[in-house]
Amino acid sequence: MQIIKSVTEMQNISQKLNGKIGFVPTMGFLHEGHLSLVKEAHKKCDFVIVSIFVNPSQFLPNEDLDSYPRNFEQDVKLLSDIDFIFFPQNEDIYPNDYKTWITVEKISAEFCGKSRPTHFKGVATIVCKLLNIVNADFLFLGEKDFQQLVVLKQMTKDLNFKTEVIGCPIVREKSGLALSSRNKYLSEIERKNALSLFEALQLAKINFKNGIVDSQKNISQMQRLIEEKGGVVDYIEIIDSQNLEKISKLKERCRVLIAVFIDKTRLIDNIEI
Ligand code: PAF
Repeated sequence: MQIIKSVTEMQNISQKLNGKIGFVPTMGFLHEGHLSLVKEAHKKCDFVIVSIFVNPSQFLPNEDLDSYPRNFEQDVKLLSDIDFIFFPQNEDIYPNDYKTWITVEKISAEFCGKSRPTHFKGVATIVCKLLNIVNADFLFLGEKDFQQLVVLKQMTKDLNFKTEVIGCPIVREKSGLALSSRNKYLSEIERKNALSLFEALQLAKINFKNGIVDSQKNISQMQRLIEEKGGVVDYIEIIDSQNLEKISKLKERCRVLIAVFIDKTRLIDNIEI
């Protein structure tokens, strides 16, 4: 495994690789969720590249850019079986004269985009740049950030990338809590309260089995459950998985998306019905 810091060097190397390149973009502080993406990349590709870059442009000014958990040494250990870690510096990615931004319209403005208005512009821009740098044939993303997955599928399609986007299942703790680097912010009691996200999603699944399909009714019940455990709901939405359109009744293979504040920590999760 090689650690590459320079954009030009990474670009030169990736252009010369003879075989399929699988790419896993990350912001570091890796957990089993990230490693499941690496595992998928290994299965499908000849070379695996993981980027570690806490992308400032996807954080709003009031968000946790400075406190976002980082542990490069531990990440390197966890990635010993890949080919390249791309670890660029901020100045190399966003030099002083940087001016180009990618906006995936409409679907970026919904859900997380409402409370984090410039977030997906930052995500789309960095992933677009990274794909150009690492020359990826396959891009592996977790379904936990479901809206991000749909936004990036749209971007790669609209901009004629050769890259195929592969969504991988959410990895959960035994308790049901979806793995996230931001779980580090949770105290012991908040961790328990955070289980309400998964419980609420399960409730929607059970309701669907029992024929309770009205979206509004499901959303209200989920909201009550979360609030009883001290969570503050940012949004709960029931959507068509393909186009992110809200639907009034639950149906097979639709998605339920939620974002909840557990004290100051904003967590997202979702489930396929
Ligand atoms: O999902 C993430 O960790 C980030 O949004 C990504 C895709 C690495 C872009 O910075």
